[in-house]
Parts: sequence; structure tokens; C-alpha cells
Amino acid sequence: MAAMERLPQRGPRARGRVLVYGAYGHTGRFVVAELVRRGLEPVLSGRDADRLAGVGRLHPGAEVRPAAIGDTAALEEAVRGVAAVVNCAGPFLDTAGPVSAAAVRAGAHYLDVTAEQPSVRALYRAHDADAAAAGVVVLPAMAFYGGLADLLASAAVGGRGGPVEAVTVAMGLDRWWPTEGTRITGRRNTAPRLAVADGRLVPVGASSPTRTWDFPAPLGRQEVVRLPFSEVIMMHRHLGAERIDSYLSEAPLAELRDPATPGPEAADRTGRSSQRFAVDVRVVVGGVEHRAVAGGRDIYAVTAPLVVEAVTRVLDGRVRAGGAVAPGEAFDAADFLSALSPEALTVELPAGGAGGADAISREKPVPGR
Ligand SMILES: NC(=O)c1ccc[n+]([C@@H]2O[C@H](COP(=O)([O-])OP(=O)(O)OC[C@H]3O[C@@H](n4cnc5c(N)ncnc54)[C@H](OP(=O)(O)O)[C@@H]3O)[C@@H](O)[C@H]2O)c1
Repeated sequence: MAAMERLPQRGPRARGRVLVYGAYGHTGRFVVAELVRRGLEPVLSGRDADRLAGVGRLHPGAEVRPAAIGDTAALEEAVRGVAAVVNCAGPFLDTAGPVSAAAVRAGAHYLDVTAEQPSVRALYRAHDADAAAAGVVVLPAMAFYGGLADLLASAAVGGRGGPVEAVTVAMGLDRWWPTEGTRITGRRNTAPRLAVADGRLVPVGASSPTRTWDFPAPLGRQEVVRLPFSEVIMMHRHLGAERIDSYLSEAPLAELRDPATPGPEAADRTGRSSQRFAVDVRVVVGGVEHRAVAGGRDIYAVTAPLVVEAVTRVLDGRVRAGGAVAPGEAFDAADFLSALSPEALTVELPAGGAGGADAISREKPVPGR
């Protein structure tokens, strides 16, 4: 991470141009639509020219630049003259390396929506130095899994002094209608999952302990299973917590694992499904627990306002750090989340930390301390 000093000089047109790699995927389409809604200019990219042309017909005027991951010259041509790249093509273990390298070489910011821990670690390692030197941001996992929990934890810690003793994340879903990309990514990512113990990243082991978690309505009480995603890597990078752990609702995981479960279906005119989610983050600082919670609909759809809000802030300079970063390092987390509430998601942040427009008090002493 480095303090943001300057951005490479770009013409006024380039400043609003954002390349979406994987533009015809389920998540990519939400991201393209959100960029258009926010007045930015998407450039459509991915490996299948015909499917890109199909998305292009929905957004007349959007430039189409096909490029396969293995074709370095085509990727370089695709990122030419854009201000930022949003990679929505997963498995990110296959795509994030080449797409981020092309973006940084071209002086463009790079963001993606990975949930894969090893992909985030590899990007942090690869771009710590060169992204800072190029004056750009490399921000992986700016999505439901990853960035949302990192922002909530960062807002809950806020300006409180003292070491962070523990962060516990619980992600509640009422259903999971997985996309093909989710299924393929799950099969591709076989690395042991990592949590944080004694301040270090450690494999969680084969056993997956369960516990009961009380989510806000409408989810209510659910059985959750320990299952860390990319948020652990991001929080470990900048929160300095002794322990970090993540849990996910157990029943929707069974739906994900069942090959007969259908993909997401639009339930409103924006294309969102009726799936409900809650992300409940509890941090312990100085023996006191602080809780930050977000809720909303459709984990794929909500990824679009999350990553596009990040793009907007990076492009207009509301970013605190350059180089390879986590969202809580790069942005004022409470301000970021409040800007998305209540249209994209509802947010409850603890009072007395980072604050926020709709801050409520949820502090409670940790038992036994
Ligand atoms: N962190 C989160 O909360 C979050 C949220 C949403 C999505 N995601 C992740 O985002 C990825 C996409 O999800 P999705 O729901 O949009 O799935 P999807 O609808 O199946 O789309 C996947 C996209 O990735 C492209 N792709 C995959 N491998 C590629 C490769 N090697 N080279 C070029 N393009 C490639 C696909 O192109 P083809 O059709 O040509 O294969 C397609 O455009 C998944 O990894 C998913 O886990 C994460």
C-alpha cells in the first residue's frame, strides 16, 4: 500500500471509460448496467466475440474488444485508453493474473470480484510495488464475498484505539441459486481455506464446525458453518486482528452442492433474484464487541453497486491509498457503505466508531472479560 500521489495523465474521455472483462457473464452484465446507470462508459471485453456483441446490442455505443486470457497482445489492446478495468470473469485463479498485469502496464486501475483467497493473495504479492509505482489501485474482491465484510469490519473498528482482538463474519443466505461461474470456480479452487489465529493466516483444516447465528429479520436464526472466503485475506492485510473467522449459512450450501439447483432467475425489472442476504460482522476491540450489519437482495446483483461505487471513488480521487489494497484501506468504509444505503443494501453501523448516517449502538462487553 502507498499513499496516493498522482494518477497517470489521461484524456477526459479515458477518465470515464471502464473496461469490463467477462462482460457477458451473469455478474458482468449487472456491472455493465450499473456503470451505465452511474454515467460511466463501459467497454465490453471477454473471450467470446459473439456473446460480447449480444451485450453490446443492449448498450448501443459501448465499444466491444474481444480478448482471450492467453492472448497478451489482445489484452493489451483491450485495456488501451481506459481508466479502470473491472474483471468479472472467474475462476480468477485463471484470469486475474493476466488481466491485472495488462491493466497495470497500461496505467489503468484494476478491480475484480473474486471470492477466491489464493487469487487475492497472488494479486497482493504481484502488484504491491508496480501498481504503486504506476499510480494505480489494484483492488481485488470488491464484491459480496470479500469487500462487503471488509468494509463492515473496517467501519466497526473505525477510529477506536487499541488492537483488534477478533473479527467474526457471518454471511446469511435464505437460498443459493448458483451461476455456472460459481460452480466452476468452486471446482477450480481447491486450496485449503485460511482463517487467522494468533495474528497469522492458518488453514482451517478439514472439519467445518457449525454454530447457530441470529441474523436480523427476515433471515433470523440459522445454522452456519465455518467457511472463510476472500474477506479473511483482506482483513488480515490491514486490521491487524489476532483472530479472524467466517461462517456461512449451511442450508444454502447444500443447494450449491446439488447439481440440480437452478441458476438465479430475475424477480424484478433490474434482474435481481429474490434471494435475501445478511452480512453480520462482529469485531472485538479493547474487550468490547461492536457489530456492523448489512442486508439486501441477490449476492450477484449487489456486487455491481459495490464494485462500481469503488470505481467511482477511485476515479474521482476519494481513495486514501494506492497500489494493491483492501477496500477498508482504500476508502472511508462508513461513508462508502452509507452511500449505498438504502437502495443497494441496508446498513447498520455501530455508533462511536467510524459513525455513518444511520449509525446505531450495538456495543456490548464480551462475556468473561
Ligand atoms: N465475491 C463475490 O461475491 C462474487 C460475486 C459474483 C461473482 N463472483 C465470481 O465471479 C465469477 C463470475 O461469476 P458469474 O456469476 O458472473 O458467472 P458466469 O455467469 O458463469 O460468468 C462467468 C464469466 O467468466 C468468463 N470466464 C471464465 N473463465 C474464463 C477464462 N479462462 N477466460 C476468459 N473468460 C472466462 C466466462 O466466459 P465464458 O462463458 O466464455 O466461459 C463468463 O463471461 C465467478 O468466479 C464467481 O465466483 C464472485
